[in-house]
Amino acid sequence: MAKRKLQHFAENDTFPHFFQPYYHQLIEGFELKGRWRDVFFKNQNPITLELGCGKGEFTTGLAVRYPEKNFIGIDIKGARMWRGAKTSQEAGMQNVAFIRGSVEHIGFLFAAGEVDELWITFPDPLPNKPKTKKRLTSPQFLERYRQITKPDATIHLKTDNDGFFEYSLEVIRLQQLPLIACTFDLDKEAGLTEVSAIRTHYEEMFRAKGAAIKYLKFKL
Ligand SMILES: C[S@@+](CC[C@H](N)C(=O)[O-])C[C@H]1O[C@@H](n2cnc3c(N)ncnc32)[C@H](O)[C@@H]1O
Repeated sequence: MAKRKLQHFAENDTFPHFFQPYYHQLIEGFELKGRWRDVFFKNQNPITLELGCGKGEFTTGLAVRYPEKNFIGIDIKGARMWRGAKTSQEAGMQNVAFIRGSVEHIGFLFAAGEVDELWITFPDPLPNKPKTKKRLTSPQFLERYRQITKPDATIHLKTDNDGFFEYSLEVIRLQQLPLIACTFDLDKEAGLTEVSAIRTHYEEMFRAKGAAIKYLKFKL
């Protein structure tokens, strides 16, 4: 394994705001489940999750803009997440945490009603049919989100991928969920400047290839 990756893994272990619970710890009862506000953030502010946060640019970008909210980035790739953890530590940000783990396990990480809002930024599109239930906007994932969010919680999705975007719109239509915003090209849309302003690593890559960035916002 590359030396730098190993260094990042080692440093992740030292961050007080970086969590990577083992599966047995999750099933025995994760210590912060239901206690993120009281024990970790030490405030009663709303909690926003970024699912598949990669390097965590969106999590840290929102946290700078909204110091009155708490933000948690989740991903399975610890070496990528190191970037966001390091940036937020160096900036002394108190409203950011990262969890290395699978989104499938969020029910072990958060209690019912603990989460206010979700962002899904440039998720893996998983175009092959057998993998559709692994897409982060599949009915199976929406059900997991319902188990940890407040009623009426908002979900935001940003993607370059037409197939994933259309699939997500179809799930929303079939479940008759309220669609609050929807654009096939963020750059042609006035009034969504903040959604455009924070750009993740993958967003920059897709933009460099000329892709239009799609965005939607809906209620669970
Ligand atoms: C295409 S990358 C986008 C990363 C980041 N959001 C960005 O825009 O730069 C997708 C990310 O989702 C993560 N991911 C995919 N499925 C996941 C899952 N089920 N649980 C946790 N992370 C997941 C991957 O590890 C990867 O970092």
